[in-house]
Amino acid sequence: MTRLRRLEDLDLGRLAGVATFVRVDFNVPLADGAVMDDTRLTAALPTLRELQAAGARLVLGSHCGRPKGEHNPAFSLRPVAERLTELLGGPVAFAASCVGDVAQAAVDALEPGGICLLENLRFHRGETDNDPEFAARLAALAEAYVDDAFGTAHRAHASVVGIPERLERSAAGRLLHREVEVLSGLLREPKRPFAAVVGGAKVSGKANTLANLLPSLDLLLLGGGMANTFLAARGYDMASSLVEEDRIDLAREIVTDAADRSVEVLLPEDLVVTDDLDQPGDVRTVDAASVPGGTMAVDIGERARVRFGAALGDVGTIFWNGPMGVFEKPPFDSGTVAVAEAIGGSSAFSVIGGGETVAAAARAGVTDQMGHVSTGGGASLQLLAGKPLPGVEALKESE
Ligand code: 3PG
Repeated sequence: MTRLRRLEDLDLGRLAGVATFVRVDFNVPLADGAVMDDTRLTAALPTLRELQAAGARLVLGSHCGRPKGEHNPAFSLRPVAERLTELLGGPVAFAASCVGDVAQAAVDALEPGGICLLENLRFHRGETDNDPEFAARLAALAEAYVDDAFGTAHRAHASVVGIPERLERSAAGRLLHREVEVLSGLLREPKRPFAAVVGGAKVSGKANTLANLLPSLDLLLLGGGMANTFLAARGYDMASSLVEEDRIDLAREIVTDAADRSVEVLLPEDLVVTDDLDQPGDVRTVDAASVPGGTMAVDIGERARVRFGAALGDVGTIFWNGPMGVFEKPPFDSGTVAVAEAIGGSSAFSVIGGGETVAAAARAGVTDQMGHVSTGGGASLQLLAGKPLPGVEALKESE
């Protein structure tokens, strides 16, 4: 058996004055030099405050976007340091490079409890390549390591796996630990009945997760583009809707596996369709079995919303990932918002993950009603697919 090392394993009483590298996931949307969504910043605050209180000198590292090893001002973390200063109510210094003299000077200037944020780690290709030399340069900045970047735990990058290889004093922060506990709890011991609501464009990215979840599930609700592929598997003509032809057999297999395990699968019985996504002229609600030629499904219909809502009213646990339609183009977000409201109104323990799903909960005003809002989209799906997360494995030890 293995266990995930946590902050207690660092011996917080002996962390005063110790330079501690904290890997955070501050991959947040930026526009005009400002942070547009600070959910991932607020999620990291408990760990940061606890380490500050212990007197550690905090060196924060994160990526932002995919700048592919180039310095790109559009992905600079400087605005993040400013927003974090506001959230923590105390100064967060910014180092214009994550390695070298600039980074070292910022670390040297830290008082106990002080914080600096390093510039985007992905301005160096060594980060995504997990280059040993780059990892060694990062590790040289600190004596201890804390990973609180759940959203990046599925990436075997230098700051995720390379630093803990080099710094023995390493552990998961509060956020990473809770994410792993809650999400693996869904596979181990969900309060029954357990329902998963899965949407989004494609079956392909979520098939492994669906397959691994099925043994724990009682109910599976499918919406969004991926439901089209399941409806096509039933033999329905989906007209111009997005259908993954090469995944129709896979969809059939999932439905058969669900039936064998007595998992009820609900597909939308009606759909909102349109002739043109960008300039919708003809928008109507139709039976899922009779999508008119020349139209495409863009949302679940009213009857499906009511049925999904009723099914979710009476379960013990809900996991939700993926919108029910073309969420980014209102009014085709209505089905997604309705599902968010149903989950928010349910007494079930609800876990949601994925950028659009979390945004939908916020749009419906139900974020506070969720049992757990995961900060990781890809990472949560990988964990639920039963695949090891490199960032978690790097912090495990034998019991
Ligand atoms: C995310 O937002 O999913 C994480 O920060 C990982 O980002 P990436 O997909 O660019 O590795």
